[in-house]
Amino acid sequence: MSRPKITIVGAGNVGATCAHWAAARELADIVLVDVVEGMPQGKALDLMEARPIFGFNVEVVGANDYEATRNSDIAIITAGIARKPGMSRDDLINTNKKIVSEVTRRVVEKSPKAFIIVVANPLDAMCYVAYKVSGFPSKRVMGMAGILDTARYRSFIAMELKVAVEEIQAMVLGGHGDDMVPVVSATNVSGVPLTNLLSRKKIAGLVERTRKGGGEIVALLKTGSAYYAPAAAAVQMAEAIIKDQKRVVPVSAYLTGEFGLNDLFFGVPVVLGARGIEKILTLKLTPSEEALLRQSAAAVARTRDELKM
Ligand code: NAI
Ligand code: 2OP
Repeated sequence: MSRPKITIVGAGNVGATCAHWAAARELADIVLVDVVEGMPQGKALDLMEARPIFGFNVEVVGANDYEATRNSDIAIITAGIARKPGMSRDDLINTNKKIVSEVTRRVVEKSPKAFIIVVANPLDAMCYVAYKVSGFPSKRVMGMAGILDTARYRSFIAMELKVAVEEIQAMVLGGHGDDMVPVVSATNVSGVPLTNLLSRKKIAGLVERTRKGGGEIVALLKTGSAYYAPAAAAVQMAEAIIKDQKRVVPVSAYLTGEFGLNDLFFGVPVVLGARGIEKILTLKLTPSEEALLRQSAAAVARTRDELKM
């Protein structure tokens, strides 16, 4: 039986780190594709040379075309430009629309049965591009953002309470922008509601830090945006599909009426397994969370409309 195969398009910071996490977990054979000559080949060879040290047994190859990507099970699309200080995610829209359209076409030609995980920003809009261009059923096209945003939120709570991060159960929903919605009513520490453990003011501070979490890293790095946690999140999605884990995680999914939203990719809780997005879950929000979710949806819809697709 052959190993699963993951194509990662864009071998920059996020793409190469996805390859690193996925290879170290022996998740699949990996093809790294980038337009820069030699770079994906060099990173793939470097990863192959790490195999004897950590003892992971998968093949990693780099390429500038799509021949090696044939019959991939999963394609992670990270190709595009990243945010620089002062840029919003939406500033990226026109450049990344062209790039994501082109790479989606190329991926689909070689791997018509793949699941597509979009990472490029503006995330929810780029999912829409990949969905429209691929012609795939919506359960096979999804975006990575909610797992990352939730991981940031959980990290900040754990740091504040000085407890193990695994004890924090939480969910960040909505678009991957500054309007995202950390759902405080669904946040608990080993079953104890967060609101019993921290003041309203402290929680508001953690929520705000989560919303600006991407920008916080951009401001520190100065030359690009986050990649360790984003790549870990994308690989968790690939793993859930490859291993049919039925994980309940927030991902950007195509909505057809759920949460009262239509024709929109938006961060919602889903069951992720071998059939991709197997189910979209709904949950009861407080009236103020509901209002914030509407605000986030309006922002995502505006960006979708700018795509003119
Ligand atoms: P990067 O600049 O390090 O890498 C992007 C790579 O894409 C470059 O190596 C570039 O040569 C390549 N590329 C450009 N056009 C291409 C094409 N047509 N075909 C193949 N490769 C192409 O950027 P980084 O940090 O890896 O970020 C990638 C994208 O992911 C950005 O849009 C960024 O905003 C987004 N991002 C999204 C996150 C999320 O939560 N959804 C989190 C982190 C990054
Ligand atoms: C992040 O949240 C830039 O979207 C990217 O780190």
